[in-house]
Amino acid sequence: MNIKTENKGEVLVIKGNRNLKGKLYVSGAKNAALPNMAASILTDEYLILENVPDLLDTNTMLKLLNDIGIKSIYQDNRLLLKFENQPNLSASYDYVSKMRASILVLGPMLTRFGYARVALPGGCAIGSRPVDLHLKALQKMGAQITLKEGDIIAKAPNGLKGTKITFEKITVTGTENIMMAAVLAKGKTIIKNAAKEPEVSDLANLLIKMGAKIEGAGSDTIVIEGVKSLGKARHAVIPDRIEAGTFAVLSALCGEGITIENYPFEYLECFNETLNNIGVDIVKIGKNTAFIKKAKNLKPASIETKEYPYFPTDLQAQIMVLLSFASGTSKIKENIFENRFMHADELNRLGANIKVDSKNNIAVIKGVQKLEGAKVKATDLRASAAMVIAGLAAEGTTEIEDIYHLYRGYEYIDEKLKNIGAELEKRIKGQ
Ligand code: UD1
Repeated sequence: MNIKTENKGEVLVIKGNRNLKGKLYVSGAKNAALPNMAASILTDEYLILENVPDLLDTNTMLKLLNDIGIKSIYQDNRLLLKFENQPNLSASYDYVSKMRASILVLGPMLTRFGYARVALPGGCAIGSRPVDLHLKALQKMGAQITLKEGDIIAKAPNGLKGTKITFEKITVTGTENIMMAAVLAKGKTIIKNAAKEPEVSDLANLLIKMGAKIEGAGSDTIVIEGVKSLGKARHAVIPDRIEAGTFAVLSALCGEGITIENYPFEYLECFNETLNNIGVDIVKIGKNTAFIKKAKNLKPASIETKEYPYFPTDLQAQIMVLLSFASGTSKIKENIFENRFMHADELNRLGANIKVDSKNNIAVIKGVQKLEGAKVKATDLRASAAMVIAGLAAEGTTEIEDIYHLYRGYEYIDEKLKNIGAELEKRIKGQ
């Protein structure tokens, strides 16, 4: 992979420009690539994953897998993974603190080797985000779990046993972790109130290619019949619906005509409908190609984030930028994460008018005529994308601090944006 480590001293300087034009291409989904990569722990045979985006997060997962004993070759977005060394069944805090999705190695390690030690994720920028549901489900499958020195130690010396698991709350990585644990467990596992996200289905499709018996992925009940072992597979990661949605918002504000290739219409129904209602025309010019132009009259909206197939929390920050330009007052209710409105203050620094009611997780956005460039902070991954959109839509120059967040989830983003005419430059803070 090209991007090796995050550079916390870097800022991104963007010149406002609402006349971008050309083509954007949507990469493979980060949130599908990460669990798919973790599935390599479940077999000794080769796994070939195509369309794996070159990101800080996939890079972190790769390093973690290498540490566990998996050899890898990565070229042209194709990743080959194979267990070659004696397994080292632990994931240190270095990985987990960088990326919470590191927890995805817990289920596979435990089910295959009967032991796993994974650092407990701490609090993070967008709320406390515990992993209690992952742990409770594994316990129900027979795992003994203890916490020691900040690590989760999970043991199942005689293997995990299939059982019925009903998640109290829908959890994406929780569903994925338990699905991976269940494929090698004894007997049948039924996951109720499962996450229905396309990334869960993508993981199920990969596991099925490896020889797993899974039915119902994509619905709220997934049934898994454990098998003795899994084999090799080749699989292409689905397109990133969040990157696609980010590009759609950008095009609606700054595009003189932007073609978005590899746009997964089928995963973005609710989002597309919301954009249409706001006044953005998403023209389908091919099976997976969208064409979007700057919208003339943006209407306010009332939006709630909710689990798939509803409006994704991962596009909440970006749509807030769009609504900042609407004529009237909009409302966004964040239902998935507490404390996921930190970008609101940053947008206000650019001239937006957003008031957050933290108690009820509601943001009220009064539309403004224009935004003006300023120094802002990227407070998390999706907030960083919102800052980039806002910077391009604003007048003048915007400087985004802590921009490393952006590279966790947006492949070759600087190049992609430059290709449509954006002027941006990475600098070391203070230089
Ligand atoms: C995944 C996505 C992330 C997205 C989120 C919601 C990946 C790698 N990340 O994160 O981009 O924003 O889904 O769509 O796929 N919860 C608990 N206990 C648990 C697990 C979750 O209380 O054990 C809560 C969380 O705090 C949150 C809610 O459940 O309030 C949903 O979280 P979850 O779906 O687990 O998010 P992630 O899988 O971490």
